[in-house]
Amino acid sequence: MLESSSVPLFIVFVLLFILLLSVVLIRRNGTAALIWNEIIREKITNFIMNQSKEQRILNYVLQNAVRGDPCSVIDAIDTYCSQKEWAMNVGNEKGLILDKTVEEINPSVALELGTYCGYSAVRIARLLKAGARLLTVEFNPEFAAIAKQMIEFAGVQDKVTLIEGPSEEIIPQLKKKYEVDTLDFVFVDHWKDRYTPDTILLQECSLLRKGSVLLADNIIVPGAPEFVNYIRNNPRFQCTNYPSHLEYMKVQDAMKKACTLQGEHIRSTDSTKLLACHFKH
Ligand SMILES: C[S@@+](CC[C@H](N)C(=O)[O-])C[C@H]1O[C@@H](n2cnc3c(N)ncnc32)[C@H](O)[C@@H]1O
Repeated sequence: MLESSSVPLFIVFVLLFILLLSVVLIRRNGTAALIWNEIIREKITNFIMNQSKEQRILNYVLQNAVRGDPCSVIDAIDTYCSQKEWAMNVGNEKGLILDKTVEEINPSVALELGTYCGYSAVRIARLLKAGARLLTVEFNPEFAAIAKQMIEFAGVQDKVTLIEGPSEEIIPQLKKKYEVDTLDFVFVDHWKDRYTPDTILLQECSLLRKGSVLLADNIIVPGAPEFVNYIRNNPRFQCTNYPSHLEYMKVQDAMKKACTLQGEHIRSTDSTKLLACHFKH
């Protein structure tokens, strides 16, 4: 039995142990880190500051980056998110894989699924040749508004078309409304449960040609096992894995590149979907 005087000490010891365990878990486990950063810490800070994290990121960029200099915008976001508040930008380590892929493909038409604050859109756009364009899709109006300002501040607005809406509605509109023939490059970085259905939709809408390249983020954290399985077992795609780390953390993550080997569109199991691709405006 514990003596009554040692009970508070015991409680303090248990609390310290739980605290230590939580810190270790957050540092080593990607899911724990995401829960802490994206749910607990962010909600508390938003409540105290009466402002969203994305607005704080934009403010930091406006105060610390140089207008019209996309590299300074990227650096400012990386500095803020590695030193002050974690955010779900692709980050610098995986950003270098993204840069290398864009440079290799040298796309004329690129698509990004998941704009968030515009970090990767600025990153991609700064590498595009004259006359090339990036279409980036975001369904959260608050994030889209931040991204628009970020893209304009970086000076890449002439190369980027920000489309507000859910990817599953926008993809079938790309041909007619946005005058896309086929896509040279797709950065897949929205919610992970949409990776496979949207890859299928891109094929159903004949937006992928032989040689089109998809680069998907967050293969390990939060993880996209269904997509990995789909791509790996599909003879239309040739895959390459790029082991890396979750943005601004020491947690393992990876990117997956899928090169399209066959261009013709796949037969949709749902004929109404296929019709929608051709008639949507
Ligand atoms: C990981 S963040 C994108 C990060 C961004 N690519 C970057 O690296 O700077 C994912 C974004 O996708 C958006 N999103 C998720 N599912 C979507 C969908 N089905 N259609 C459009 N946007 C989506 C989310 O609102 C979020 O802003």
